[in-house]
Amino acid sequence: MIKVLFVCLGNICRSPMAEALFRDYVAKEGWEDTVIIDSAATGPWHVGKPPHPGTLAKLEEVGVSSEGLIGREISKADMEEFDYVIGMDNSNLENIAKLGAGTKNVYRMLDFSERFRGLEVPDPYFTGDFQETYELLCEACSGLLEEIRRKLS
Ligand code: 4NP
Repeated sequence: MIKVLFVCLGNICRSPMAEALFRDYVAKEGWEDTVIIDSAATGPWHVGKPPHPGTLAKLEEVGVSSEGLIGREISKADMEEFDYVIGMDNSNLENIAKLGAGTKNVYRMLDFSERFRGLEVPDPYFTGDFQETYELLCEACSGLLEEIRRKLS
């Protein structure tokens, strides 16, 4: 079993989009019982809330289910439970480090993309550009899928 947690500031734009997209990638490989996927916020504002309408619209447009996406906050216990804790930007990584549970399982989302390694996923809550975020997340999800393929082989 490999457990992946996508993390952003609010858990309503980027990380739930990543969760839904990566769940779709993993299902197409038939790995849904082997790879467990979740997402969480570093901030408390949207706990219990559905994703942002922009994220829901983009997922619907590309035919990916948004079922079960509900905002929650990351906890220290998540740091023990998940093999990959993946932040969308550098401030997410800083907030994850502040949980005080170490960073050996913490990754930056775009470090899974050869083309965009080292960069941050822009926050569409502020940019309004859900298409840009979607394209970057697809790139990173492809790279993460190959990383997990290597782990499983
Ligand atoms: P996300 O975007 O981190 O991609 O979910 C945000 C959503 C909400 C807020 C900030 C970022 N907020 O300040 O409420």
